Amino acid sequence: MQRTLVKDALNATAPSDAIVLEGWVRTRRDAKAFSFIELNDGSSFKGIQVIANASLPDYAHIDKVTTGASIRIQGKLVASQGQGQKWEVVADSFTVVGEADATYPLQKKGHTLEFLREIAHLRPRSNLFGAVFRVRSRLAYAVHQFFQSRSFFYVHTPIVTASDCEGAGEMFRVSTLDPKNPPKTPEGAIDYKQDFFARPTYLTVSGQLEAEVFACALSNVYTFGPTFRAENSNTSRHAAEFWMIEPEMAFCDLQGDMALAEDFVKYLIRDAKEHCAADLEFFSKFVDKELLSRLDFVLERPFQRCSYTEAIDILNKSGRKWDHPVIWGDNMQSEHERYLAEEHFKCPVTVYNYPRTLKPFYMRVNEDGKTVAAMDLLVPGIGEIIGGSQREERLDVLRENMAHHKLSEKDYWWYLDLRKYGSVPHAGFGMGFERMLMFVTGVGNIRDVLPFARTPGTAEF
Ligand code: 4AD
Ligand code: MG
Repeated sequence: MQRTLVKDALNATAPSDAIVLEGWVRTRRDAKAFSFIELNDGSSFKGIQVIANASLPDYAHIDKVTTGASIRIQGKLVASQGQGQKWEVVADSFTVVGEADATYPLQKKGHTLEFLREIAHLRPRSNLFGAVFRVRSRLAYAVHQFFQSRSFFYVHTPIVTASDCEGAGEMFRVSTLDPKNPPKTPEGAIDYKQDFFARPTYLTVSGQLEAEVFACALSNVYTFGPTFRAENSNTSRHAAEFWMIEPEMAFCDLQGDMALAEDFVKYLIRDAKEHCAADLEFFSKFVDKELLSRLDFVLERPFQRCSYTEAIDILNKSGRKWDHPVIWGDNMQSEHERYLAEEHFKCPVTVYNYPRTLKPFYMRVNEDGKTVAAMDLLVPGIGEIIGGSQREERLDVLRENMAHHKLSEKDYWWYLDLRKYGSVPHAGFGMGFERMLMFVTGVGNIRDVLPFARTPGTAEF
């Protein structure tokens, strides 16, 4: 007989005489004449209650039905007498598929997140992580729905690349050379001509440059894939391997870019509220009490916008004492970004037109010559979740910028060609998928929205 998922059993519209459920035991409680088994198969937040009567021939094995064991139940779906559930299952037979003894680490509730990170192979079976990864899956799907319904094409950009898009020098090298004995040039440097790709290569930090190629052919495109940054920042918002969504639009300026970013954030929140209601309810009870009201507030209000120059002004007039001084031309620190979103605007805010000197070579230079058409979308509790810009489409200005950043035109010949042949104004952004998940779930550490986090010093699993 075919297995029914717990989710479907819980949503049944009629009782059933014969149903098969398979999953993992959360708890078992024994009474005199029967046992209650709480069965969860991950298909939904809620598990289903199973009643195993002591009169069953299988009941002799009930001791093996322990927390963490996998079991198969055949029985009847009946209306539940108990509170808080519509249906329960009365077992006709049960089989222990895989036993779990008393060393199973998820015996009790209330483990710390730090402990659960050490058992990343088992934590998806907990309430919290089951919920996180169901939301993650749903929002990945919603990303595609959002863009596909707006006629964007999905482009697979390369993972291995020779270019440092962000110019921050935070790349992981990809090489098959023998680290103990690499070939050398006559000058004594490592000879990457003899490496696998006959040049130095790295894991990509962003698919943007390649996405621009496709936007300049298919008009509206997006990428959604893993990106890698060897930045040694051990914070709750940085991972060495994270997923980024990068739309790129031809015939689009910064205004259109900001509008899409704001729509996108709202769409994902709405989608999670609609399709992951039980999971979000759990987060709002046990992770972040203000989560649901904050998400509603964000949906209802238009996002604020302010220029970098205005933002610096706001920060200077705030009367705050900052750990990092506020100076026009310096990067805004986390404390500044959070002040803007959490205390000044009290809602998501898009900051635009940043100083040219702070930003990568590809951003479009504004009329003032001092700023570029860049934008960062900041949200309360996290800070930056999106960074984007209008791209420099003027060949001469791009060349100047590249010289400024000490980039060789030889390496970017194809990127320059886009400006030689049918160049168009175009713009795009990158959303950190994990940062968005943190915002939607209220989970405070990026390590807890990644299935297997890669951070400095950690690559277990
Ligand atoms: O602001 P970033 O560096 O922008 C780019 O990479 C552009 N090429 C995007 C584009 O215009 N197509 O990164 C974009 C977003 C950030 O706003 C942040 O949400 C996320 O990626 N991000 C990280 N997320 C987790 N861990 C890290 N180390 C991250 N670095 C950036
Ligand atoms: Mg950024």
